[in-house]
Amino acid sequence: MAEPSKEREPILQVRNLVKHFPLTQGIVFKRHIGAVKAVDGISFELYQGETLGIVGESGCGKSTVAKLLMNLEQATAGEVFYKGQDITKLTGRAQKAVRRNIQMVFQDPYTSLNPRMTVGDIVGEPYEIHPEVAPKGDRRQKVRDLLDVVGLNPEYINRYPHQFSGGQRQRIGIARGLALNPEIIICDEPVSALDVSVQAQVINLMEKLQDEFNLSYIFIAHDLSIVRHISDRVGVMYLGKMAEIGTDTEIYEHPTHPYTQALLSAVPVPDPEAREHRERIILSGDVPSPANPPSGCRFRTRCWKAEAKCAEEEPLLAIPQRFVDSDTPVAHESACHFAEEKDVVGAA
Ligand SMILES: Nc1ncnc2c1ncn2[C@@H]1O[C@H](COP(=O)(O)OP(=O)(O)O)[C@@H](O)[C@H]1O
Ligand code: SF4
Ligand SMILES: [Mg+2]
Repeated sequence: MAEPSKEREPILQVRNLVKHFPLTQGIVFKRHIGAVKAVDGISFELYQGETLGIVGESGCGKSTVAKLLMNLEQATAGEVFYKGQDITKLTGRAQKAVRRNIQMVFQDPYTSLNPRMTVGDIVGEPYEIHPEVAPKGDRRQKVRDLLDVVGLNPEYINRYPHQFSGGQRQRIGIARGLALNPEIIICDEPVSALDVSVQAQVINLMEKLQDEFNLSYIFIAHDLSIVRHISDRVGVMYLGKMAEIGTDTEIYEHPTHPYTQALLSAVPVPDPEAREHRERIILSGDVPSPANPPSGCRFRTRCWKAEAKCAEEEPLLAIPQRFVDSDTPVAHESACHFAEEKDVVGAA
């Protein structure tokens, strides 16, 4: 894992990124009746060589963020700077060149691999779009090398996806992600569909590859416990917004946002003494619809600390004013009017 990243140059800078999906009614005369605010103004940095975990409940906009960064969806507003260049505005060859450096590993290894293609064709497919990376004569050897790198037998190059286990298929997906020697890999819940015992193996492999190829990762998960081991920093999303972001110590040991505290209070703690000292927070109600988010703070309909101000004024993602002069881990960005520590972790 990388050193504390604050002094280093970001490789990716995301600024006020927005994606609204239009909601229409009628078949012939489509009327615009609103929008699903899947991503609604998100800013963060990814630093060279680090892993940024992005966590939040299903439907909060994580995959949409990933697709926006990959240019698989067109942003409604906002910018994504890759080494200082806004990639949301690129087209044609310039876009293709940047896309080569940012690759994605998808969630479900069962559906993301074409069942009619051999492993060799799947892993080598990116070379069809970027032949400059591997001339035709070299491709099979390159694919064999990639299979070896992800811990698969290169002799399996002519097999089909159904001949592999879930963990092996995700290794195939990772090999394909590596084919173009990218600098950034966006991993959208890469282990969520796998058995717990296999999850750790795939995460260990990804850590090894990160060191070997100097990769920067965005690692998306719906559970804080999955990304803990691999992340240098973690961002917590709620209903299209970033609720809190910080280093692993800041988020796991000193969370100040009630949503993060609630998520952490639900993570199993192995130490019985620590378990006894912490408070379990059960969130009431469902996640509101992203087509009609609550005014002010989006979390307020489920927050046990909500006050009148929370409905009127949107809390911005920033270091809370009263912690600005603190040099302790409590001083990190949290989008809450009443950000403060709470012993939900037990181990603190
Ligand atoms: N193509 C689309 N059209 C309309 N709504 C979409 C589309 N893709 C995603 N959404 C909606 O945007 C919200 C965020 O979805 P998504 O980014 O997939 O969340 P997550 O990955 O965190 O589960 C959800 O309400 C989802 O239904
Ligand atoms: S701003 Fe208010 S509603 Fe939102 S998280 Fe903070 S206390 Fe809760
Ligand atoms: Mg998703």
